[in-house]
Amino acid sequence: VGRLIAEATGASFFDLQAEVAQRVGVPVRKAMRSWPDQHVEPALRLLGQELESGQPTVVALGSETLLERARRLEALETAVVVGLDAPIETLLGRARANEHWLARIGEVDGGLAGALQARRESYAEVHAVLRTDRTSPEEVAARATAVWQRDPIAVAAGERTYCVEVGVGAALTRSRMAVGGASLLLVVTDRNVGPLHAAPLVAHLAVDGARVESMALQAGEEHKNPGALLSVWERALAAGADRSSILVALGGGVVTDVAGFAAATYMRGIRWLALPTTLLGMVDASVGGKTAVDLGAAKNAIGAFWQPMLVLCDPEFLRTEPQRGYLGALAEVLKSALIGDPVLLELLEQQTDAVLGREASVLTEIVRRSIAVKARVVSRDERESGLRAVLNLGHTVGHALEAAGGYGGLSHGEAVSLGLVQALRIGQALGRSPDALLERVRGLLARLGLPTLPSKDRLEAAVELLTHDKKRKGNVVRFVVAEEAGRVGSVSLELSALESLVRRLNDQ
Ligand SMILES: NC(=O)c1ccc[n+]([C@@H]2O[C@H](COP(=O)([O-])OP(=O)(O)OC[C@H]3O[C@@H](n4cnc5c(N)ncnc54)[C@H](O)[C@@H]3O)[C@@H](O)[C@H]2O)c1
Ligand SMILES: [Zn+2]
Repeated sequence: VGRLIAEATGASFFDLQAEVAQRVGVPVRKAMRSWPDQHVEPALRLLGQELESGQPTVVALGSETLLERARRLEALETAVVVGLDAPIETLLGRARANEHWLARIGEVDGGLAGALQARRESYAEVHAVLRTDRTSPEEVAARATAVWQRDPIAVAAGERTYCVEVGVGAALTRSRMAVGGASLLLVVTDRNVGPLHAAPLVAHLAVDGARVESMALQAGEEHKNPGALLSVWERALAAGADRSSILVALGGGVVTDVAGFAAATYMRGIRWLALPTTLLGMVDASVGGKTAVDLGAAKNAIGAFWQPMLVLCDPEFLRTEPQRGYLGALAEVLKSALIGDPVLLELLEQQTDAVLGREASVLTEIVRRSIAVKARVVSRDERESGLRAVLNLGHTVGHALEAAGGYGGLSHGEAVSLGLVQALRIGQALGRSPDALLERVRGLLARLGLPTLPSKDRLEAAVELLTHDKKRKGNVVRFVVAEEAGRVGSVSLELSALESLVRRLNDQ
């Protein structure tokens, strides 16, 4: 199959098994399950060199190569990974036809069951798994090529791994295929997005006579509450939704948070497809599987981790997003660039006008890159054990500024913009952030029309909030600092030290 894909696309082909077999000195059909490391490592190094050429390359490898999670994640981040599978009877039949395969299975702890369990673990976290029974190798190759061309980003979460696809037209070309076979589709949108974007989607989903219902929630954060949740549950029930129905969320972060949580809870959890229509919904809310509603003033107080089956990000939706939310989300994009993608920072700097003009081609690239940074962090830290803290860059002071004077003043994105500048100044004062980076970030934010300097009053109120936040362990915060474009670190700071730093820096 790998060879067929390479031939059809003009890519080069690298067969890892063959490379190792040659080093071991046996024919590839005698491939063993556990190759000796001293032969695998040089073959992997050779592969690395191949890939550095930047040429499109198809790599064939055994699922056991991806068993180690760190290696699997590395593969997911650098390539599109497709697993080939078949029902156990087919696999057994194939094994019987090849004595070496039979012997190979015998080498594994637990025999065939052990081999399949290992494969299951590898295949849980790949971009796609394709069945190879009752179909030709050419057909499998064509399907794998289609996955490759969509260039999905995987958010690895064990059995709940899912993909994010970014592209002009993604919503209207991919949704139907993704939800095929569902008994009922319930499109959940809001009263602003619905009139603008729901009709073509509903028409697209309803091709082939699928049952499609839709509903529009009241728009805005003040409606992200249990009432909205209840209305989705009731609508789903009235429409006769069952466990094989799918919720399709079309809207900003409020809609995806509400619909996602409704999906998490309806009949103990049903599938949902996310079609974010705001930049924040795409670059932030689409990665991580968090869903929630607010309870009174307590933001996201009631929620669940419930990964969507797929996220489709269509930059065309962003043309109609209100300007303030769009600009604010650019602060989050810049945050991601600082955390893990220097090219993204350059792109924002060099294409500022295209970004402000919401040009689809530039947006596609920017959204992709931001999502990839967050996906990398989240995948490596499924259980929120610490690494995810880097995503707080700009948010320690940012959150305090946002909360100061109530949530009416600054938008979240504007607060993050201010918080990023504060974080860089603090990093600079601590000798961790370079002067030039501070200037780059400040300059870029200003050109994007985002605030860089908080008012004296707001800052004063924010400092008060920061130091009176008793939730923090031992009054010490792990403060995230930007060390260079694409690299962050952290420092333990006593709250009192943070307070005096912020005061001193802003008095100058
Ligand atoms: N789940 C997560 O991990 C996560 C991450 C970040 C933010 N969030 C949540 O997301 C919410 C904020 O998201 P948001 O900024 O998208 O806000 P939002 O969903 O309220 O959308 C902002 C406004 O724009 C309108 N709108 C949305 N898309 C539009 C479009 N394409 N054209 C015209 N109007 C459009 C909406 O109706 C709304 O009035 C917050 O509740 C936040 O908690 C969740
Ligand atoms: Zn944020």
